[in-house]
Amino acid sequence: MGLNSNSRYSCLLAFATACLVLAANLSQAEDAGNLYNTNFDINAGERYFERQCSRCHGFDAKGNDETGAPDLTGRLSRASTEVGIFNIIRGGVPGTAMLPVAADLPDAQIWQLVAFIGSLSTNPANIDLPGSASAGGRLFNGKAECNGCHMVGGQGGRLGPDLSRVGERRDPEELLSDMLSPHQDVDPRWWTLRVTGRDGVVREGLRMNEDSFSLRIMDADSNLWSYPKNQIDSFLRVEESTMPSYTQTLNDSEIDDLVAYLFSLRKEN
Ligand code: HEC
Ligand code: HEC
Repeated sequence: MGLNSNSRYSCLLAFATACLVLAANLSQAEDAGNLYNTNFDINAGERYFERQCSRCHGFDAKGNDETGAPDLTGRLSRASTEVGIFNIIRGGVPGTAMLPVAADLPDAQIWQLVAFIGSLSTNPANIDLPGSASAGGRLFNGKAECNGCHMVGGQGGRLGPDLSRVGERRDPEELLSDMLSPHQDVDPRWWTLRVTGRDGVVREGLRMNEDSFSLRIMDADSNLWSYPKNQIDSFLRVEESTMPSYTQTLNDSEIDDLVAYLFSLRKEN
């Protein structure tokens, strides 16, 4: 799977790394990343936001037509980086109702606001994806047979990573490329070994373990096979994913549905 191989979803997440690359305004704060982005900081930022910002931007931060304050839950128009947002909060937007914060407000508190705003755009409820998560869930467990290899919530196969919380670690663009180009950057955990034993029998499976003396594989039926290396004829390492590419077998709207479903998979709160 690869990063950024397809830009269909680029910058849907204002804070995705892909967008950080677009950093434009680095003049006022150094781009060392936000050090104030723990859950504690996000909560502190939210409390400050409710007191100082919500009267214009709304309690849900979705903006307000009367005050002209924009929606802050998606991609922002004036900033594509955390530093950019920091600078807007610190300096305001000249000539508009968006005034600077009090000059003596510590930077740390502004970073907490930045963290809070960032948490809004990675909240799946605030991201408009073209697909339907529920249709994607039906495909995943039905026609597309993803559950043959992947587990979600304790149900499914073991021939691929557990996807129960994949929406927390992959953004929509990455999920798309996972499905369209699975052979990019495959973690060695998911390589395949094709082993020919002394008896001439060839077995193929996921590389569960490989050291100087032995090999262990898991075949497509989830059977484990161990081989001392001095008892095999030869073996071949296939550094590709066993996951097929779905460019041919699923249409665009099915892929969109699956992306929406995968992105919704998170820890239940
Ligand atoms: C008096 C109303 C008002 C208050 C209070 C206010 N804002 Fe704003 N804010 C605006 C308006 C209006 C804009 C749009 C300015 C423009 O770009 O024309 C804006 C823009 C922004 C933007 C840029 C959005 C984008 O799409 O680029 C950010 C970020 C922001 N505000 C954050 C905050 C934060 C954080 C606070 C609280 C510390 C706050 N605002 C308080 C009115 C307000
Ligand atoms: C034959 C087994 C197999 C099938 C069927 C399969 N996958 Fe995979 N999948 C894998 C393996 C192995 C990996 C890990 C290697 C890689 O990155 O491709 C993987 C990786 C992924 C990842 C990246 C996970 C991560 O933690 O980064 C996603 C997302 C994914 N698959 C989604 C799907 C979806 C959606 C389907 C159905 C349309 C599907 N897979 C069908 C085997 C499979």
